[in-house]
Amino acid sequence: MADQSEVPQFKALPAHIAIIMDGNGRWAAARHLPRMAGHREGTENLRRVITACVEFGIEYLTIYAFSTENWKRPKDEVSGLMQIMADALEKEVGELNKQGVRINHIGRLEKLDVPLRQGIINAVELTKNNDRLILNVAWNYGGRDEIVYAVQEIVKKGIKPEEITEVTITENLFTRGIPDPDLVIRTSGEQRISNFLTWQSAYSEWYFTETLWPDFDKEELRKAIIDFGSRNRRFGGRTAEEEKKQYAG
Ligand code: IPE
Ligand code: IPE
Ligand code: MG
Repeated sequence: MADQSEVPQFKALPAHIAIIMDGNGRWAAARHLPRMAGHREGTENLRRVITACVEFGIEYLTIYAFSTENWKRPKDEVSGLMQIMADALEKEVGELNKQGVRINHIGRLEKLDVPLRQGIINAVELTKNNDRLILNVAWNYGGRDEIVYAVQEIVKKGIKPEEITEVTITENLFTRGIPDPDLVIRTSGEQRISNFLTWQSAYSEWYFTETLWPDFDKEELRKAIIDFGSRNRRFGGRTAEEEKKQYAG
């Protein structure tokens, strides 16, 4: 159960928040530190944001940790990122389990170094019965690659073309069973999707902030959720309020 004392402050609470955790490199550069120090601080911050999500009563959190395009980075940075994530998982999984967090992976596990791959498999297994917060870790994830994966699954299952609907695709993505994100946050001032949740974010509300990921704390998250509460989500239709005005006037 969510900590109810935190909930009433929000006009609307997104059930599913997705975050593009960007800006670790710039955070480090601003302090004349190596990029890895930024990635370590970013991972520390992730723990804080997960705890804040649990407190706020968020049901699903999806975090973009490594994209299919991030393999283009120098080998040292890629292996350092895998190491940091593997260490963090090992260190934090017990506490996350206690908090009722269920860890789920989206993306392709192949290609990952063994300690990280094994760490993810262990974390998924250990936390599989939790349901307070579903944490989807996108590691070696790409939105286009996920659609390729779904098509591969559909073909393997022998589903006939005329039987394919949007539901068929949705049910064959890595995110099957998880509702679409209500709110997608991107830190560090970049305003692009960078191959994140391409299919699922069709009707998400986007929130961009200049804040670099290691500095995106509980208060920043609170601001994003409050902003979300001021949005008018229409999904192509009209809101009940608009309907009322139309008939009154
Ligand atoms: C986000 O920080 C982490 C990953 C993409 C893995 P960056 O490493 O992209 O940081 P900037 O964008 O260079 O500041
Ligand atoms: C997006 O950030 C991927 C992650 C945060 C994991 P990038 O820093 O890789 O994105 P681009 O290259 O600036 O679009
Ligand atoms: Mg970046």
